Amino acid sequence: MTEFSSRVERVSISGIREVFEAAGADAINLGLGQPDFPTPENARRAAIEAIEAGDTDAYTSNKGIESLREAIAAKHDRDNDLAVDPGDVIATAGGSEALHIAIEAHVEAGQEVIHPDPGFVSYEALTHIAGGLPKPVDLREDLTMDPAAVEEAITDDTAAFVVNSPANPTGAVQSADDIREFARIADEHDVLCISDEVYEPFVFDGEHHSPATYAESDNVVLINAASKAYSMTGWRLGWVVAENDRIERMLRVHQYAQACASAPAQYAAEAALTGPQDHVAEMRDAFEERRDVLLEGLEDMGLQVPTPEGAFYAMPRVPEGWTDAVIDRGVIVVPGEAFGANGEGHARISYAVDVETLKEALEVMREATNAVR
Ligand SMILES: Cc1ncc(COP(=O)(O)O)c(C=O)c1O
Repeated sequence: MTEFSSRVERVSISGIREVFEAAGADAINLGLGQPDFPTPENARRAAIEAIEAGDTDAYTSNKGIESLREAIAAKHDRDNDLAVDPGDVIATAGGSEALHIAIEAHVEAGQEVIHPDPGFVSYEALTHIAGGLPKPVDLREDLTMDPAAVEEAITDDTAAFVVNSPANPTGAVQSADDIREFARIADEHDVLCISDEVYEPFVFDGEHHSPATYAESDNVVLINAASKAYSMTGWRLGWVVAENDRIERMLRVHQYAQACASAPAQYAAEAALTGPQDHVAEMRDAFEERRDVLLEGLEDMGLQVPTPEGAFYAMPRVPEGWTDAVIDRGVIVVPGEAFGANGEGHARISYAVDVETLKEALEVMREATNAVR
């Protein structure tokens, strides 16, 4: 057989999948990275109507349909105090493709990408695929990323740093002050900030803040998606917002890799963004309630958990053997090391399940905790 590229050989299939495969069919799954709610009815309807009208049979423009990009611009005006020209938006196949084209267009072979550790698995993998060097930074005790740690990690070879708030796998939310600092660092060091905001609506106290709102330069690429906000992970619809020259470069990658985002998904996402937002608020409230149940349960069994302020994940510190003991008893959680070396000694628990299931899982975790102590 012929050889594979060294870039792809540096990447392996995510450790999360291995956990799912090891668990039995009737296991309680607290490993999933998606909301357990249906896609809003108006979004589903919009896709069906577009299909029936024959509007989805052909390629759309590479950037996506104008009306979707206008809806995305209106969303950023409404939620982020950010004036976005619809021409500075590319609709992508989820936040995943948005991250891919951002890194591919900005990272030269051998350049460094600073990212949180533990952090979302794609940052390191996509950096390798681009021929770059991932540069993980340690997090604070509360699992937020310290702007000072990012600033210290910057070298002449830094192409970008990634901010992810609210964060996967930690559920941590960066303060407004931190976000302002990240914007300042992007400005002063003339380095790109890739801001992954796919969990934006799920902030329990205070508000979501974007570095794009505060940066004075054009050095922020904002990544967002309909995936989590509208429970549309299967639709594959995300987007990037950036200054026009950056958009033009990212479009080169998007055009050749993807041509355009799926047309039915574009119509669905437009309806989700422009329709009533009460589903989003309902999901946020449900996640907050579950977060409280989970936190109380974990603390009650003596585990230390930095309070997750957003998304739908918690990342307790766990004794050795805990994750395996929980999985062996039929509850899937993800070992922290799947998210970077600093994840060791932690587990990621997704609480995208109903309260009753969560309570059942907590009983299992209690047994496992007693067994490994
Ligand atoms: C932090 C973060 N960013 C981006 C994504 C990609 O989301 P999608 O491609 O489903 O829009 C995920 C998915 O889990 C995520 O957790």
